[in-house]
Amino acid sequence: MKKGKKLYEGKAKIIYATSDKNLVIQYFKDDATAFNNQKKSTIEGKGVLNNRISEHILSNLNQIGIKNHLVKRLNMREQLVKLVDIIPIEFIVRNIATGSLTKRLGIEDGTVLEYPLIEYCLKDDKLGDPNISREHILAFNWLDAIQLDLIDKNLKRLNDFLLGLFRGVGIKLVDFKVEFGFTHESGKNKIILADEISPDTCRLWDSITDKKLDKDRFRKDLGDLIAAYTEVAKRLGILHEQSNVSAVNVTKLSSIKKKSK
Ligand code: TMP
Ligand code: ASP
Repeated sequence: MKKGKKLYEGKAKIIYATSDKNLVIQYFKDDATAFNNQKKSTIEGKGVLNNRISEHILSNLNQIGIKNHLVKRLNMREQLVKLVDIIPIEFIVRNIATGSLTKRLGIEDGTVLEYPLIEYCLKDDKLGDPNISREHILAFNWLDAIQLDLIDKNLKRLNDFLLGLFRGVGIKLVDFKVEFGFTHESGKNKIILADEISPDTCRLWDSITDKKLDKDRFRKDLGDLIAAYTEVAKRLGILHEQSNVSAVNVTKLSSIKKKSK
C-alpha cells in the first residue's frame, strides 16, 4: 500500500493518505502530551509499543462484534486503517474513580464504582475537551438517539471485554477513552470504533500492587513509562519474539525497521 500525503497530525499520531480513498495509514509517534498539550515530551519506543498493543486488542474486537477501523498492522509504527469522519466526542468509561473524575466531583481516588460510568467530552482542544451530557449530543445533532444508544451498547460490551482481557493478565482496567467515526463503505453511513486502545488511552493498574502501567507514569512524573508499557505488552503475550525486551530493545528494533524502509 503506497503512502501518500499527510492528511492530519494529532498529538500522538499522524494520518497519511493511501492509493485507496477509503484507507489511510496511521503512524504512532513517540510524543507524549498531557493536560491538553501543556505538558509534552518524546518517549522513545512508546509508539512502537502502542502500535502492537492496540493491534492486539482491536484485532480481537471483531470476535465480539465491535466493528473497528483496523485493517492490519503494516510495520513497527504503522497500521492500515479505514478512513472515517470522526465524531467529535471522546467517550470515557470508568470502573474505578481517578483522574479528572476525582478532581471534578471530589470522589475519593480509587473508589470502585458500582457500575461502569460512561462520560462524554466534546473533542475540542481550544475549549479543553469539556464534559457534555447526552442532551447536548442530541440537542446539537452530533448524533441521534439511535446512534448514541448503539455507541453506549458498544462501550459497555467493550468495557466487559477489556475488563476480562486485562483481569486475565493481572491488570485492573480503571478507565479508558475511545472515539468513533462514520465510514462510507458501500454507500452506507456506518459507525465504527476509530481509535487506538493502549496504555496511552486506558488507565491500567497492577491487580495486586495497584502500580500504574499507563500514561499516568508520564502525567504524574512517575518515570519508567516504557518499562510499564512493555510489561503490559508482555503480559498480553505480544512480545514473544523479544521475550527479554527492554526499553532499549524496543527502541533499537524501531530504528532498525526505520533504516531498512
Ligand atoms: P481523565 O480522568 O483525565 O478524564 O481521563 C479518563 C480516561 O481517558 C483515562 O484513561 C485517560 C483517557 N484520556 C485520553 O485518552 N485522552 C484524553 O485527552 C483524556 C483527557 C483522557
Ligand atoms: N492526551 C491529552 C493531552 O494532551 C490528555 C491526556 O491524555 O491526559 O493533552
